[in-house]
Amino acid sequence: MNYIGSKLTLLPFLEEVFRQVTDGSEKVFCDLFAGTGAVGRHFKDLGLKVIANDLQYYAYVLNKAYLEIHTTPDFTGLRSLSPQDPLAFINELPGVTGFITHHYSPAGGRMYYTEANAQKADAIRQAIEVWHREGVITEQEYFYVLCSLLEAIDQVANTASVYGAYLKKFKASALRPLQLKPLQLTCHAADCHAQQKDANQLIAEIECDVLYLDPPYNHRQYGANYHVLETIAAYDNPSLRGLTGLRDYPKSAYCRSDAAQTAMEQLIRAARTTHILVSYNDEGVMSLTDIQELLSLRGEPKLFQTPYNRFKADNGRAYKRDATIEYVHYVKVVKAATVS
Ligand SMILES: C[S@@+](CC[C@H](N)C(=O)[O-])C[C@H]1O[C@@H](n2cnc3c(N)ncnc32)[C@H](O)[C@@H]1O
Repeated sequence: MNYIGSKLTLLPFLEEVFRQVTDGSEKVFCDLFAGTGAVGRHFKDLGLKVIANDLQYYAYVLNKAYLEIHTTPDFTGLRSLSPQDPLAFINELPGVTGFITHHYSPAGGRMYYTEANAQKADAIRQAIEVWHREGVITEQEYFYVLCSLLEAIDQVANTASVYGAYLKKFKASALRPLQLKPLQLTCHAADCHAQQKDANQLIAEIECDVLYLDPPYNHRQYGANYHVLETIAAYDNPSLRGLTGLRDYPKSAYCRSDAAQTAMEQLIRAARTTHILVSYNDEGVMSLTDIQELLSLRGEPKLFQTPYNRFKADNGRAYKRDATIEYVHYVKVVKAATVS
């Protein structure tokens, strides 16, 4: 998925830092601001038990599917409804007019999706709800299809990058038919799991060997930028407002210059872990020095860096630079955790 702050292209660098600072005895990796789950998935593949967490429900769905499912489910119940391949059967469901069509397609005056794709998404969303309730699909199968729907619908979104606005004319990729595809799953079968909590709440509930922190670094709230995906994931008929059809969303302290540092300090002080890795660049509401000083509360901080070209979702924005340096801040924890 095309996602602001995705670390997909930085995985080799992250793994290199991880290998430099760890000794191979680590078992539990926590990805506390997991987003698309790219990082957790990579470390799952390396054999670690991954705990992935995010404030947003769409991220929870992606992480739940990619971490908790190891092989394509059987879809035994669906196969009894149709001899077809389950995803082909789902892709051929006749479209219906529901919340997505009413609010995010031209039928409702907005152009996030073509009417045909919105109707297809409504049909899939409604079908899996019924199938799950009636026991035709298991919980794993439900999250597998929902994750595949989120990935597929993002591919046909009529936006420049995020869902803060839609384009006034359908672009070529938005005109393609919505097509669910099989998920690329990793087979490692450790007891990985996903959560949907505020990071500062979850930190008090978990212990891990490696804590990876990739918080938002500027004022752009993910809940606002991905509100359409949130609604498709939750399918909870929210009240929408304004031209873009924004729903209410949880506000992250990490997007506020007056709150980020306090939140980060509480997180770092409370972490029960051996290694803390933080992705945070030099254009954030906190400075590199701020992060290093916070990490020094638990040990001797280090800074690793690599040149980086911005990811597609960030293209076209008013940045001072096209290329940047990506940083990973690190501390080996030697001072005990404190709860504030
Ligand atoms: C920079 S993105 C993470 C990107 C991720 N590493 C990836 O590769 O896709 C930051 C994520 O933090 C989440 N987030 C923001 N505030 C949070 C909070 N207080 N607790 C948990 N997650 C939060 C956002 O929803 C967003 O998905």
